[in-house]
Amino acid sequence: MATDYPQTGPLNAPELDSLLIREVRPYGEGELVNVLVRDGVIASLDAGDATAERVVEGRGGVLLPGLVDMHVHFREPGREDAEAIATGSRAAARGGFTAVFTMANTTPVIDQPVLADAVWAKGQEAGLCDVHPVGAITKNREGKQLAELGMMADSQARVRVFSDDGTCVDNSALMRRAVEYSKAHDVLLAQHCADPVATEAAVAHEGPTAARLGLRGWPRAAEESIVARDLLLSRDYGGRVHICHASTAGTVALLKWAKEQGIEVSAEVTPHHLLLTDARLETYDAVNKVNPPLREDSDVAALRQALLDGVLDCVATDHAPHAAVNKCCEFDHALPGMLGLETSLAIIAEIFVRAGLADWRWVAKVMSERPAQITKLPGHGRPLAVGEPANLAVVAEDRPWTVKPRELASKAENTPFAGMEFHTKVAATVLRGKVTHEG
Ligand code: DOR
Ligand code: ZN
Repeated sequence: MATDYPQTGPLNAPELDSLLIREVRPYGEGELVNVLVRDGVIASLDAGDATAERVVEGRGGVLLPGLVDMHVHFREPGREDAEAIATGSRAAARGGFTAVFTMANTTPVIDQPVLADAVWAKGQEAGLCDVHPVGAITKNREGKQLAELGMMADSQARVRVFSDDGTCVDNSALMRRAVEYSKAHDVLLAQHCADPVATEAAVAHEGPTAARLGLRGWPRAAEESIVARDLLLSRDYGGRVHICHASTAGTVALLKWAKEQGIEVSAEVTPHHLLLTDARLETYDAVNKVNPPLREDSDVAALRQALLDGVLDCVATDHAPHAAVNKCCEFDHALPGMLGLETSLAIIAEIFVRAGLADWRWVAKVMSERPAQITKLPGHGRPLAVGEPANLAVVAEDRPWTVKPRELASKAENTPFAGMEFHTKVAATVLRGKVTHEG
């Protein structure tokens, strides 16, 4: 019943003993300060004219704890043509992330300790962000037999989050067993909520747009019925359930009810479900195909409010790179998913901070602190304070930029945000005192 995570290896030992981050405002509050980092730890938040081996110019930017993304797809092993752990890690660093959880739907599926250990080791080798493998809940993600959760939990990678993401664990008896197991091992079950029968061959949100375009619709109830079932399983058997990529107003209502009952549930929302609707489908461009699908304005409004209210706990990108061959094809045949890591902070800043709905402390909460708490990940999502690990992001609040797929660090280019202008950019990222991105 260990709740520890693996030791970060010597590969990630800071290159330098000291780093000075000049002229930043922690959480975007108060005066500009110089921050001194020594041996991978914050040594001073008021370092004056201290010197260091390396200097990062903050230029008045906002200092945040390094972001944590509990839902990405790095495609290694199996589809390194779309993304690899090294390229995904670079995208993460450029997006301000210092830790990510990469999903198990690789080829082969991450359902054994040896595979989880390999993912962790490759992430440490890349040295740009901590890449924690998510283990599959069922063997080969087939939904038939539980995978060896305990063995993966005890492996070198110390797997603490399990998910069949990409598919739903729809068998209720099996999910009940998983919930019981998760309680015994104190691990998190992240559910991809989509009733497979109700969503068979579905490619778009069920509504007037899909009907007009002749696309097979994906009803809200297919998500909400699984959310409701899993909340009840958690209530009755006590495991920690996490709802992946909440996409409907009804899911929000169910989560609110569950939290009022004291059920220990958490939920994430993606930047794309917070920004885009199924109006994007008019062009039939499969770059907008994603699972769960883009919904309607009323859902977007409910998701935004729920994130502000804490009914939704955190932002997760569901960064889902796909090779051009799997996206530049008929809508029905394209694979679902979109890139997220390099645009997420800019989108959240645009919707919430620049619109005056939230401040940077709140961004730190939903993009760093809460995901680290939900995954019980130590060392990340910590307060900006002396003695804490120097996992940091520096954000330029007013540096307009336009998303150009070719210029992203990801191997894939499937971003629906191509051509959009955002105002906020990650200027630097620091992992345990090492500068992993500066731009
Ligand atoms: O759009 C999606 N893409 N949703 C998922 O659940 C899986 C993901 C993928 O692996 O591409
Ligand atoms: Zn996913």
